[in-house]
Amino acid sequence: MPPKPTGCAKPVVGQGLGMAELSPAARGFAARLIAWHQRHGRHDLPWQQTADPYRVWLSEIMLQQTQVATVIPYYLRFLDRFPQLADLAAAPVEEVMALWSGLGYYARARNLHRCAQVVMAAHDGGFPRSPQALAALPGIGRSTANSIATFCFGARAPILDGNVKRVFCRHFGVEGAPGAALDKRLWALVEEHMPARHGGIYNQAQMDLGAGICARARPRCNACPLADTCIARRDGRQAELPTPKARRVVPTRQTCFLVITDGERVLLETRPPAGIWGGLLALPELPPGQDARAVAARFAAAAVLTVSPAPTFVHAFSHFRLEITPIVCRVRSSASCMEPGRQWLPLYAVAKAALPAPVRHILEDAQASGSRPLLSRKR
Ligand code: ADE
Repeated sequence: MPPKPTGCAKPVVGQGLGMAELSPAARGFAARLIAWHQRHGRHDLPWQQTADPYRVWLSEIMLQQTQVATVIPYYLRFLDRFPQLADLAAAPVEEVMALWSGLGYYARARNLHRCAQVVMAAHDGGFPRSPQALAALPGIGRSTANSIATFCFGARAPILDGNVKRVFCRHFGVEGAPGAALDKRLWALVEEHMPARHGGIYNQAQMDLGAGICARARPRCNACPLADTCIARRDGRQAELPTPKARRVVPTRQTCFLVITDGERVLLETRPPAGIWGGLLALPELPPGQDARAVAARFAAAAVLTVSPAPTFVHAFSHFRLEITPIVCRVRSSASCMEPGRQWLPLYAVAKAALPAPVRHILEDAQASGSRPLLSRKR
């Protein structure tokens, strides 16, 4: 596998960056960024040093809205289980969801699986090379398509993720609330500054600068290669740029999760495909106003021995907060037949099941506490 440009050890500055078409200011901007990346950028992440589109694509999807340190163990586990795109495409979606469990934004996992199948079926198992064709695949937006096209195929294609938006808003003093109008201006700016060659290094440098130097809080301007020309720094407006979203009150919802268990197994339901945790296994929700004991008895088709609420905790989604109260219902047995979509999961199998993070935490508590009062620990 040829090395990916980001892993290039030799200095590239001065070797012809394909900047002839850039304005002098844009040339200086790109050259400083690339020189900085040679010395201070990240070169040894597990998905660097390869131009294999499967590996690059997998890492870029996982890295959407997720920090590098969180992604690394998931990335390694995925590759261990699915060494090639064909392995991923052939796997049952439930297995993909289970491996993704805990990484969040689960639509990414469903799209990942669909994308693998589309590439196998429609592209003979090889990712297309152009940013436009990549962006037509499930789960790949314009910025991710451009990342893959630069890292793997040497395209001239800028990226615009959250980190890059912050760098450009500050450096060029771009104001405006997040949204389509701002994105349009920023895409024009990133296009204008993109060198024709070494796009992978340039794009990786943008990401690294945004993550490590031009951080949202307390940017390290003294270590920034772009500080001399940065408008936000000149005007002391780092804290105001990018313009924050208009603050909206995040709504809170309350729910009770039924932990129906005989001490060995727990009753789970597959969530509907649309909505939160779509397609994952989760604890049944107690319908509002209904009695936990009666619902548990009906679901388990068994006598309920005890009903004990556990401490409420909060799980934050991007658009609302969910206050979750687990209610542990000990039932006499888990021997009954189940309706479609429901299953009894042995508590020892929790670690490998496709569960959303808060459900996993509840069940790990249940597993750890064994027959003692379940779920008494603070979260
Ligand atoms: N975020 C998105 N893509 C990334 C990458 N290639 N390296 C580090 N952070 C990223």
